[in-house]
Amino acid sequence: MTTPVDSRDMTALARTAREEMPPETQFRAEDEAVIAAHGEFLLGLEHDLVQGFYETVYAHPNTAGVFADGERPARERTLSEWWRRTVEGPKDDDYFAWMAMVGLVHVVRGVSNPMMIAMSQYLDRGVEDAAVGALPAEEAQRLTGAVRRLTATISAVVIHSYDLAIEHALYEVAGMPPALLHRLRDQEVSTSLQHARDALGRQRFE
Ligand code: HEM
Repeated sequence: MTTPVDSRDMTALARTAREEMPPETQFRAEDEAVIAAHGEFLLGLEHDLVQGFYETVYAHPNTAGVFADGERPARERTLSEWWRRTVEGPKDDDYFAWMAMVGLVHVVRGVSNPMMIAMSQYLDRGVEDAAVGALPAEEAQRLTGAVRRLTATISAVVIHSYDLAIEHALYEVAGMPPALLHRLRDQEVSTSLQHARDALGRQRFE
């Protein structure tokens, strides 16, 4: 059950998103230590990860369509800075509050959750491929696990902030109390679900 949270408080919002995650799936202190121990190796991946990231998003019309003409160098710089700050840490409340804010930055630019999840996975896969080729197997596995929990946690925070920002905007526009809007949302989604069950011929498993 999600705790109600002020969608304008990035620190609270990031904390709530993290609390939704079962502990073994969350980024944790040991992961910070594993990432720090491999800091030099991870910083060395910056160029290839950033280039690969932008080649991938620019090669696909839906993601390429997000960007304005001539924006690529600035975006590459942003991602490089993000990577350095991420590897160097600390990945504390302030860091995750920043990630919640990054969620809002993306909403405004039309970056969808599927785009975000796909590219977050692209990054952890990039680290995994490089680690498997360069580090002893056990170390590669430890590092890959830590980075995966980190990207999963970032995605959770970004998506939560994205959802709550949109919900907040609807509250503002509709001028309705959140509890009523939630009830109406659940009613509408139940109707859509019934349509989907009928269309797909998939009634509830009993
Ligand atoms: C794991 C995935 C991603 C990470 C970690 C990430 C990170 C960031 C960060 C740190 C910023 C700067 C925020 C600030 O101003 O402080 C940013 C901005 C931006 N990102 Fe992403 N991003 C991701 C995915 C994407 C994707 C998939 C797209 C588009 C397809 C995208 C498009 C943009 C754009 C257009 C901006 C500039 C927004 C503005 O200032 O107008 N990002 N991103």
